[in-house]
Amino acid sequence: MSTIKKIGVFTSGGDAPGMNACVRAVVRTGIYSGVEMVGIQQGYQGMIDKKFIKMDARSVCHIIQLGGTILKTARCLDFKTKEGRAFAYKNIKEAGIDALVAIGGDGTFTGAELLSREFDIPVIGVPGTIDNDLYGTDFTLGYDTATNTVIDAIDKIRDTAASHDRLFFVEVMGRDSGCIALQAGIAGGAEAILLPEKDTAIEDLISKLEAGAGSNKTSSIVIIAEGEKNGGAYNVAKRVKEKFNFYDVKVTILGHLQRGGSPTSFDRVLGSRFGYAAVNALLAGENRKMVGLVSNKIQLTDIQESITNHSTKLEEDLLEMSHILAI
Ligand code: F6P
Repeated sequence: MSTIKKIGVFTSGGDAPGMNACVRAVVRTGIYSGVEMVGIQQGYQGMIDKKFIKMDARSVCHIIQLGGTILKTARCLDFKTKEGRAFAYKNIKEAGIDALVAIGGDGTFTGAELLSREFDIPVIGVPGTIDNDLYGTDFTLGYDTATNTVIDAIDKIRDTAASHDRLFFVEVMGRDSGCIALQAGIAGGAEAILLPEKDTAIEDLISKLEAGAGSNKTSSIVIIAEGEKNGGAYNVAKRVKEKFNFYDVKVTILGHLQRGGSPTSFDRVLGSRFGYAAVNALLAGENRKMVGLVSNKIQLTDIQESITNHSTKLEEDLLEMSHILAI
């Protein structure tokens, strides 16, 4: 029998589609198991500001289809200090919360790991970020929806690129992770993909575009992750244009329209599986673990390990394939 009587759930860092499906699953799995459930609004900031709300099965009605997070989210500087975490912990204890489910990315997990170690409170992490950059899961929540949003945009841009014989540079999210750029680039048939994990010489990009133009390509699309080392889509476009003036050049920054939106069926099911597994892991006595999906099975990984190895996901063979398929 678990000694856990009250679980707090929160979302933190960037919102991601599927977070609400996960909150719903956490709350209902907890209630089903006889545990009291508390929603903590605005992540770590809400712990400091005592934003605790009691949740029951009906509090999470009609949210599985919603993007964003009904619990809201914030990036909290106070929580980065030991004093801030001590104050948050005091408030958590006063609210009677025994254990936490933390839904977010590597920043969220860093905070959760510290809080759990310093104050001995059990925490299970759920990987919720469109960036897909956490070790210990094949997919993070929101990644599938975000890449589908990006593909929709690329398809539309391609119509215009083809109609006007233009070269488009499309910038997508991913400060440290090229997962969205690679996935959407392949699915959108991009002529080149520039990633934060891999340096691309502008000369090599130009050679590729020249080869395309030389073999009757009348338009091209280059996908650039925002953290790519040449400094983003505007800089790359400018430098390419200086040396290669074959096409009319345009730049599109997709920005925050990639983060919101109704989750795909994949992200709804993933959020449900993660939330269910997270509560059951806590009740089984697990601590400082992240739930993940590996080969379609739920797997637990040490939170620390998931953070430390978080940037090791670039699949070089896919990048190589994308080059070949775009000749
Ligand atoms: O971590 C998810 C993410 O969308 C990154 O890809 C992006 O760089 C960052 O969040 C943007 O954060 P913010 O919304 O705080 O500007």
